[in-house]
Amino acid sequence: MENYSKLLDRLKEITHLGRAGAVLGWDQQCYMPPGGAEERSEEFAVIGKFTHELFTASETQKLLEGAEAEVTNLSPDADERLTLRMVRRDFDQAVKIPSALVSELAREEGLAHEIWVKARQDSDWKQFAPKLEKLLDLSRQKAEYLGYTDRIYDALLDQYEPGRTSAEVEMVFNNLRPGLVKLVHDIATAPPISDACLRRDFDEEAQKAFSEYVIGRLGYDFTRGRQDKAVHPFCTSFGRNDVRITTRYEKNWLPSSLMGSIHETGHALYEQGFAPGDDGSPLSNSASLGIHESQSRLWENIVGRSRSFWNIFYPELQQRFPGVLDNISLNDFYRAINRVEPSFIRVEADEVTYNLHIMLRFELEQAMMDGSLKVNDVPEAWNEKMRSYLGIVPENDAQGCLQDVHWSAALFGYF
Ligand code: CO
Repeated sequence: MENYSKLLDRLKEITHLGRAGAVLGWDQQCYMPPGGAEERSEEFAVIGKFTHELFTASETQKLLEGAEAEVTNLSPDADERLTLRMVRRDFDQAVKIPSALVSELAREEGLAHEIWVKARQDSDWKQFAPKLEKLLDLSRQKAEYLGYTDRIYDALLDQYEPGRTSAEVEMVFNNLRPGLVKLVHDIATAPPISDACLRRDFDEEAQKAFSEYVIGRLGYDFTRGRQDKAVHPFCTSFGRNDVRITTRYEKNWLPSSLMGSIHETGHALYEQGFAPGDDGSPLSNSASLGIHESQSRLWENIVGRSRSFWNIFYPELQQRFPGVLDNISLNDFYRAINRVEPSFIRVEADEVTYNLHIMLRFELEQAMMDGSLKVNDVPEAWNEKMRSYLGIVPENDAQGCLQDVHWSAALFGYF
């Protein structure tokens, strides 16, 4: 198994380089001053180029072929064969893409982040549109290199959800959409449930302390992770022993940080839970983005909105915000935290309306990618879909098409 072990050593080096890039990405979203964007983008470009060149080098190919020959007698579900199947898939895709394109994409993503932050702050789509156009153009090039049989979007979707096609996803969504739209409508016309108790004054420091207490109890290991503040909540991993999450706070809307922290903890528990011996190998990667999101939404919705969860945590919550929830019963709080109501922000949406937010993005991304929707027309298309699926229209771009960080990182096909 000489080739196999040499190949793993080489992959570990590549993984370490990639993780160093991930640390820089985390820093950009959490601490970097806006002035650092250009320099940081060059760093991303260099790391992107070197990792890609190391991975696609003929040396990797030789080791991969040698390793494949070494494992033919092993059982098909042996770790070595599973590993090589993943490496083969990634390798065959990576060699199709020129490293100049990889590094240009990395650079443009680095630059786009700050532009998105500013555009969102000013709620001005026009500031972001030219950068998005550029990222779409580079992503189309990438998709063409990767190849596809049906739609261009499939090439990108496949990166996050291996083997899945737009047509298959569309079939699922088309089956779900009419029922969901009706359900949302029925709930909206039923007697309202008040969530006013969640909109009282919740001190930011106390929110931070409470959410860290909750996620610690859920099993998030703070000796192998930390939580910081960022414009957009996310989870990132530099190995199973350093998995970080971010959140954001709103004084008058408790679920923003609390449910966001629980959601990101679901992602983090998955990453912190990879087998210790697999660290740095392809087996310590998520199976797909859908699997990843199933973990976060399990903790956020099935656990974090359950009665048994709040039986335990509500007395603690009341205690940590003296005077704020004194006259609210557990039952009223439980109803409030489960309230379903069409809202603008996807990451803060309840579990019924959330799926419609995903469908909206999936449809707009496909249309942007195949060119049928022009970048300048995105705000209007976004608002139109919000009206038809959720019955509400954002008042501005920050509440609408500028809310998510993902397009600034060229994450198309990601949802
Ligand atoms: Co998530």
